[in-house]
Amino acid sequence: MSNFKYLVGLLVAPTVISQSVIDLSGSSWTLTNPPYNNISVQGSVPSQAHLDLYASHVITDPYYGLNDFALRWVANSNWTYSTLIADLDTSRSTQTWLLFHGLDTFTSVVFCQQPVASTNNQFRQYHFDVSALLSNCTLPTLSINFGSAPLIADQIAVEPNQETWPYGVEIIYELPNRQFIRKEQSDFGWDWGPAFAPAGIWQPAYVVQLSMPANASSDVYVRNSDFDISRMGQLNNLPPNQSAPWLLNASLDVLGTLPPGAALSYVFTNASTNETVSSGDLTDVTCSNGTITGMAILDPSIYELWWPRGLGPQNLYNLTVSVVDCNGTTLASVNKRTGFRTIVLNMGVISDEQLAQGIAPGNNWHFEINGHEFYAKGSNFIPPDAFWPRVTGTKMQQLFDSVTAGNQNMLRVWASGAYTPDFIYDIADKEGVLMWSEFEFGDALYPTDQDFIDNVAEEVAYNVRRVNHHPSLALWAGGNELESLELQNVNQTAPDQYDYYLAQYEQLFLNTIINIVYTNSKSISYIPSSTTNGYLELNFSLPEPMIERYDNKTPGSVYGDTDYYNYDSSVAFNYSSYPVGRFANEFGYHSMPSLQSWQEAVSSEDLYFNSTTIQLRNHHYPPGGLNTSNFANTSKGMGEMTIAAETWYPIPSKADSLANFSAWCHTTQIFQADFYKSEIQFYRRGSGFPNRQLGSLYWQLEDIWQAPSWAGIEYNGRWKVLHYIAKDIYQPVIISPFYNITTGDFQIYVTSDLWSPATGTATFQWYQWDGSPITNISTPSTIFTVGALNTTRVYATTIVNSTLNYNNAVLYMNITAEGQLPNTDTTTTFTHENFFHARSLAEAEMMDPGISLTYSNDTENFTVEATSAIAVWTWLDYPAGMLLNFDSNGFLLLPGQPREVSYTLKSGTTNGSWVDQVTVESLWNNTLAY
Ligand SMILES: *[C@@H]1O[C@H](CO)[C@@H](O)[C@H](O)[C@H]1NC(C)=O
Ligand SMILES: *[C@@H]1O[C@H](CO)[C@@H](O)[C@H](O)[C@H]1NC(C)=O
Ligand SMILES: *[C@@H]1O[C@H](CO)[C@@H](O)[C@H](O)[C@H]1NC(C)=O
Ligand SMILES: *[C@@H]1O[C@H](CO)[C@@H](O)[C@H](O)[C@H]1NC(C)=O
Ligand SMILES: *[C@@H]1O[C@H](CO)[C@@H](O)[C@H](O)[C@H]1NC(C)=O
Ligand SMILES: *[C@@H]1O[C@H](CO)[C@@H](O)[C@H](O)[C@H]1NC(C)=O
Repeated sequence: MSNFKYLVGLLVAPTVISQSVIDLSGSSWTLTNPPYNNISVQGSVPSQAHLDLYASHVITDPYYGLNDFALRWVANSNWTYSTLIADLDTSRSTQTWLLFHGLDTFTSVVFCQQPVASTNNQFRQYHFDVSALLSNCTLPTLSINFGSAPLIADQIAVEPNQETWPYGVEIIYELPNRQFIRKEQSDFGWDWGPAFAPAGIWQPAYVVQLSMPANASSDVYVRNSDFDISRMGQLNNLPPNQSAPWLLNASLDVLGTLPPGAALSYVFTNASTNETVSSGDLTDVTCSNGTITGMAILDPSIYELWWPRGLGPQNLYNLTVSVVDCNGTTLASVNKRTGFRTIVLNMGVISDEQLAQGIAPGNNWHFEINGHEFYAKGSNFIPPDAFWPRVTGTKMQQLFDSVTAGNQNMLRVWASGAYTPDFIYDIADKEGVLMWSEFEFGDALYPTDQDFIDNVAEEVAYNVRRVNHHPSLALWAGGNELESLELQNVNQTAPDQYDYYLAQYEQLFLNTIINIVYTNSKSISYIPSSTTNGYLELNFSLPEPMIERYDNKTPGSVYGDTDYYNYDSSVAFNYSSYPVGRFANEFGYHSMPSLQSWQEAVSSEDLYFNSTTIQLRNHHYPPGGLNTSNFANTSKGMGEMTIAAETWYPIPSKADSLANFSAWCHTTQIFQADFYKSEIQFYRRGSGFPNRQLGSLYWQLEDIWQAPSWAGIEYNGRWKVLHYIAKDIYQPVIISPFYNITTGDFQIYVTSDLWSPATGTATFQWYQWDGSPITNISTPSTIFTVGALNTTRVYATTIVNSTLNYNNAVLYMNITAEGQLPNTDTTTTFTHENFFHARSLAEAEMMDPGISLTYSNDTENFTVEATSAIAVWTWLDYPAGMLLNFDSNGFLLLPGQPREVSYTLKSGTTNGSWVDQVTVESLWNNTLAY
């Protein structure tokens, strides 16, 4: 008998095979276009068909010339990615899963020649149990057929009972019907980008085989997780008690079966030293539907706070949460880098205390980090490429280096691209850049049938859980320009249907999405639309907790954030045309990229201002469809740039056509930078005005390709004039002129976003353009103190033509101030300079400044000097094929005051001859024929 028992023991306890995770990026893939298969090339994962076709030379660079239009056939074709999964253990037929972090977008998935599923949402994670198929598998193949998103969107649009909207509500850029599908909305075109509508396995993909056979019932694989660190008692959208303990909620979504009695444990380590900071078990552990959740209360005294750049250090912790069975065996662990901070968008009623400080009644609309108000300085982040799989960590690190060098502490991750990948949030966490994040809905109203809502709910839950641990996550917003533009469009075009569409809007953004955010996070605020007048009431016991204000505004009160564009450039510097709100989340004007960028994408014969290629790459205003022979819209946008340049600056008229094109491109950039500077200093001054303005995020940070746009950074990383000027005007303490052209009233303010007062001296001097001082206007130096997050007037006068020749007078002003950066206890000296002229530079009696440029091998700095007259918009330029930024550029030079300019090299070589190819010009060069 004992021998028999022994034999049975051998039979029931075979070798344990451990969990296996096959990364399908390592597989060998083929890309074909069914049904003809006349194209068959090497594929890759993650990738998209355009990228693989380009790599195989089937198509040319999608960004070149007019390929935006010429490659429509790629978007209109089906594409199949297939592979043989060489490492698949086909004998292990139990507990095998396909796991996709992103399929773009309409697919049929076939495994072992057997259908698995179809998918229809680019933004969801999909997991399929293919165990049953593996038990009948002769050849372990995986094949994913992608349908054409533009064609499928058109089919969905005409389905019976499909929703429709009044004419003009759905904004069409190139391809129509994007609102019916859950795919990056700008893939169908936008006013700054192309319409490639790519398809492919755009995110990592895996086969997960769980342990077998003995442990099969207790092996799990974590496919997603949600770590939420909030203050005890914190409620979304409301300022928490900053001395409360931290509350950790951890929730893991697993493949496999959680054993009865499964528990969770956690370990925090300091992410820079790797020392263990705390550890323990989570309590209140619950398991449901493949998700295990628990919580812990954490002693606040042992964790250092995370702060945005410029406001304190970016302390980070690694958090490991493990699933442990009842015998103490770890079944699975997940590690994410996180931080301790609270970030709240405060939209509460202006308090009596605030009223007593002179703040206008209404509601707040500002962010608070760790309980502190701060000034949000930054821009809007769009997809950095039309093809996400080629967005590299190196490119994103360079971009964020430009963001922080530009004195920006917040980006708004715009709503109609794709949810930001974790590697970008990781960079933002490290660099201290807050990421106002949005769900992917914009400039359209959306269907609300049950299938659409269910699909959105999965997308929202997955992404909210995936990114919630990042301390840089600042906000979730439902979508772009929905309240301010879309609902207004309905109200204007079909007022009788307003309530109907408003109810749908609320179902999606104020019921479905808000409740998923609030369920999965206590630490984050939510707004339904990027630009909003905020809420009337926030009541967590209501099924729809946020009741919106919309236009229920009390006259004299201030609410909400602003989104402002004005293409009438004649009023660009008239600050009474700017909106007065609590926060500016979008504003701007388009400009041309540099010649160096154009040369990457456009052949030399097309390099002139209104060539067909340049016009068709300009999508402001968008064609509004697929007709490429109608130039009316693009002409209007090209004209706006031209008129602005002609109105405000001497215009180039150079004999050499390429030099002329380059000078024109550059002049449009000067206008753009000049206009943004004027708005930013106006918004910043508002921090000390009754509207208590606490943020400006300009449109837009960076380009998706080489084309005219609102960007400050071109596709290749090169800074436009704007990024330099924004860097300057986003310094903590600035001096700015404000001129009322109608009354002649002229005032100068010093504005500070420090958290304590700063004291200093402001000096002013009028000059003629030849550099000689004008002395008949008194401009004594002023000693000032500017309060925390406040502004103070340092000069006021009235300017009339009898005291000044407008066209031969420029006011130079500067400050030196002492103050403390937030969360430091050392004194810092802040300097800033600015200039003012009462009339357009097109009329200015400028003279040749005789600029010289030298480079020192010792200091590795450039020195630039105006030798004979004032140089305005002084511009250092560097050759194509490398990437650097100067520490300052686009500045005013007084004669005889040399300026040292350093640089940061990002790619290219330091020992190259490029320093000899750096050039310097100023606006004076526009008057020259060469
Ligand atoms: C096994 O797979 C083949 C295709 O490979 C399919 O035709 C057949 O129906 C499957 N058999 C079962 C029992 O599912
Ligand atoms: C193309 O894809 C669509 C959607 O997946 C599918 O319905 C259709 O059958 C496919 N066509 C071909 C020829 O594979
Ligand atoms: C951090 O510490 C853990 C546990 O001591 C160790 O496994 C890990 O390799 C360390 N990581 C680094 C980057 O040192
Ligand atoms: C369980 O999760 C699946 C996949 O996410 C979902 O489809 C299903 O509705 C969930 N069931 C319950 C009861 O929540
Ligand atoms: C825990 O250990 C006991 C004794 O070795 C074993 O019978 C039981 O199956 C184990 N439980 C799990 C969940 O592995
Ligand atoms: C912290 O976790 C990240 C993954 O989130 C990992 O890459 C990094 O090495 C960890 N750091 C330390 C010091 O262990």
